[in-house]
Amino acid sequence: MTLALALSVQAHPHFNAAQEHFIIVLATGFTFFTLFFSAPTLRPLMSGLGLNKLSATQLALRDRVMALSRETIREQVYETARDYGLDDEVAARVIESEGLDPAEETASEEIEAPPEVPISDDQRLAVGLLTLASRERELYIGHFRSRTISRRMVGHLIAAADRVMDRVKTQGPGGYEAASRRATGVDFSFRLALWLHRNLGIDRPLSHEIADRFERLLITDLVGRELKRFVTKAVRPLLGAATGRELARLVDARLDDTRAALAALDMQYPAFAAALRVQYLTRAALRVEEAEYARTFSQSLISREVYNDLLRRTRVRRAAIETRPPLDLGMDLGAMVRQVALFADVPEDRMERIVRLLKPRLALPGDLVLRKGDTGTAVFFIASGEVEVQLDNGPVTLGAGKFFGEMALLDNRPRSADVVANGYCQVLVLEVRDFKRILRTDADLKAEIERIAESRRQAGKANPTD
Ligand code: CMP
Repeated sequence: MTLALALSVQAHPHFNAAQEHFIIVLATGFTFFTLFFSAPTLRPLMSGLGLNKLSATQLALRDRVMALSRETIREQVYETARDYGLDDEVAARVIESEGLDPAEETASEEIEAPPEVPISDDQRLAVGLLTLASRERELYIGHFRSRTISRRMVGHLIAAADRVMDRVKTQGPGGYEAASRRATGVDFSFRLALWLHRNLGIDRPLSHEIADRFERLLITDLVGRELKRFVTKAVRPLLGAATGRELARLVDARLDDTRAALAALDMQYPAFAAALRVQYLTRAALRVEEAEYARTFSQSLISREVYNDLLRRTRVRRAAIETRPPLDLGMDLGAMVRQVALFADVPEDRMERIVRLLKPRLALPGDLVLRKGDTGTAVFFIASGEVEVQLDNGPVTLGAGKFFGEMALLDNRPRSADVVANGYCQVLVLEVRDFKRILRTDADLKAEIERIAESRRQAGKANPTD
């Protein structure tokens, strides 16, 4: 930086040759001074101020890691010795000379703190969670390197893992749970896509968001399983059984959330779910195939030409599975209408008119579609999925083909109950004005809707009806 400044000053017309020379010498001198004097003095300065010292928690962890590693190293030394046909005695001598003997454990290192520095349970848990979050990050990067996930996807996932890490640092274990829950929830761009779908009838961004969410959950599930193994195998021995249990519980809770979200998507979009899994597996298989070719080549079993040819072939196949399979939201009006039992007997000419008035809409799992006490503005026909009507005497489930929201419109009263989507649920919305117009012109439809509404009224506090 200093040199760059000096060079720009040199090019400036206001300075004469003597001044330029002085500035260049000064800048160069300053740079060399910084390099040769400041850098070497930084280390003594840091140690003088004690900045290079490990904290009590780090020291305790270091000792624990050393103890655990020694055990593994000892085993490895004996194993290697046997492989080389050497006596165990030789191995024992090496172990002793390298200070890996169990007896040497505490004596061999200069210990800067009491050997048994107590770490509180909270500290252990916080260290464990940070380890988990950073392991999660590495696992995503690993998936990206093996080309099972795209660059865009790994960006999202790493950002989420970083958020988990930040939350743990600022809020402790509670932060881990909150951040994990957020990772399985829907974000702003998803909400925006949903708004476009519901208010402007634009479906493409929503279909893209749902496909993204699917892919993200699939990888989160895989990584979650790997994290569980990591807790049992690596973190538990280091931080103790109690912390290990708590970490496993947190990872399990996260896995449960992820799986519930995945199951809801699987149910609504089974074909896409299957295609996505096949794509993932095909990418993983290609990766194994490429690694196998690389190994064969590195052992000189095949020539470079053959190796290149094999790689060219895998590249072509990889290109074919690079793009994600398309996700059809299934918002085809005609197909949705055919699912509604009420419309089965309506003659075609009258049905055409009704279809024009219906608006397809996707409800997400847990969405409050109707709120008790609100003014009724529309009636809903379920094309797929199910909703739960939350009545005072218990919930009633309405599945595909049924309708709801008619009572407030017929009786001119507020909504009689909350209605919540029980998963992804496709509904057809009919505005109150159009609903009333249809009832005026279609006597059969009117009679059927009134019959069902009446039985629901009668059911009141008793049993669910259709
Ligand atoms: P509405 O009152 O507009 O809003 C809540 C809806 O829940 C209601 O219309 C009915 O469509 C539905 N509902 C109310 N009671 C029952 C019931 N007993 N069985 C099935 N659905 C019901």
